[in-house]
Amino acid sequence: MNVVILAAGKGTRMCSGLPKVLHPVGGMPMLGHVLRTAQALNPKKIIVVIGHGADQVKAVIQALPEISKGVPIDWVIQDPPQGTGHAVAQALPKLDPQSTALILYGDVPLIRSQTLRQLVDTAEKNRSLAVLTAMLDSPTGYGRIVRDGHQHIQGIVEEKDADAAIRAICEINTGFMAAPAEHLAAWVSAIDNRNAQKEFYLTDIIAKSVAEGKAVHSLRSDHIEEILGVNSQEDRAQIERIYQRRIAEQLMSAGVRLQDPERIDVLGQLECASDVSISVGCIFEGRVQIAAGAVIGPHCVIRNAQIGQETVIEAFSHIDGAAIGPRSVIGPYARLRPGTELAEGVHIGNFVEVKNSVLGPRSKANHLSYLGDASIGSRVNVGAGTITCNYDGAEKHRTTIEDDVFIGSDTQLVAPVTVGRGATLGAGTTLTQDAPEDALTISRAQQVTIKNYRRPQKKEH
Ligand code: UD1
Ligand code: CA
Repeated sequence: MNVVILAAGKGTRMCSGLPKVLHPVGGMPMLGHVLRTAQALNPKKIIVVIGHGADQVKAVIQALPEISKGVPIDWVIQDPPQGTGHAVAQALPKLDPQSTALILYGDVPLIRSQTLRQLVDTAEKNRSLAVLTAMLDSPTGYGRIVRDGHQHIQGIVEEKDADAAIRAICEINTGFMAAPAEHLAAWVSAIDNRNAQKEFYLTDIIAKSVAEGKAVHSLRSDHIEEILGVNSQEDRAQIERIYQRRIAEQLMSAGVRLQDPERIDVLGQLECASDVSISVGCIFEGRVQIAAGAVIGPHCVIRNAQIGQETVIEAFSHIDGAAIGPRSVIGPYARLRPGTELAEGVHIGNFVEVKNSVLGPRSKANHLSYLGDASIGSRVNVGAGTITCNYDGAEKHRTTIEDDVFIGSDTQLVAPVTVGRGATLGAGTTLTQDAPEDALTISRAQQVTIKNYRRPQKKEH
């Protein structure tokens, strides 16, 4: 089997500078979804026809790790795009003549591989053209399937070329087709552009096959959502919801407790162990792994992160590129940035930002702190308002805080600096030199009291 994916169209109705097939669904470009499905069928070849924004499309897709591991892609340029038939014509020289060609659309991202497998089987069994159709209550915009009195397919008529009788037909062309490559090549080469849009319609090959006396077979999809195409921002948003619902159902059937399956967004890959519970309004991006029994509170944004067993992420936390150990408590309103590694039982509280820092078991930073480029040992208590001054305007420097340190509130650690094991820093300290082990270090102006002090008074006029 050879797969041809049409992705050259401009997508005018998206009203966007981004090529249509790069608009995302579930955080991945639509064309990425189609390619992943195509790769799952394990074809000999995948040929992608690109035109509008070709360089950008190619670059974005080639950078997707999910795609680069699968069947390699043959790129073909269609310049300028002159219709779906013209697009397929550009791919013909690359097709293996003995193969079955399967045609997919870069803007129909939810198609399932089972359906495509059946379509290919239909084409191969009959050595014919096989078309995937669907019944729609509102078929506006789609090509209509025209059948004769014996229910044999006669042709496909595009909306813009249809009269009232044809527009009343509810069976539509999904666009998905499979055919012996040799026949496809002959039919496509014979298409003209005498129609309302002055385009070379791929759909015209149906009538060509019929004219040669070769019956066209069809397969009907009963999963309407898999054949929906994206032509506008509204379409994309609708497909996004369908996709998110699919993901939510997969999570729930794996035992995840979702407070509300309609209020979760997975824009990447979310893996959850058993008894994970996720509240409303959370967004997961990139690759996120959540261990058993973890609890994610409402309105968290979690990107490329690992969350340990029975860890609790409280509301409104923002976690990016962090690995969090088991039985930790994060947030509410915490921000963990890339390079954060937290061991077991760590507490990070409200308005604490951690970047490129390691915290050992049972260390705590519960309020209003910035920990950047720091190595923090076990059982360290970081007081409220502590700041690692890691940046001198030119370079970043590390702060090292050894086990069992107690840091008083409102302390600044001017890196590079080390606080020895068991040390205590008095509140308000600005630490510019290393603090020795097991001692109290404090830098603070002496406190004085001026008795009978009078505040300046406003002069009476
Ligand atoms: C097409 C079908 C229509 C079907 C509908 C299903 C034709 C003539 N019409 O219409 O019967 O009901 O899909 O969604 O085939 N493309 C190219 N090069 C081009 C034109 C399009 O690569 O010159 C690509 C687009 O990027 C897109 C796909 O082909 O991925 C479909 O093109 P689009 O213009 O959206 O076709 P429709 O009008 O939706
Ligand atoms: Ca379309």
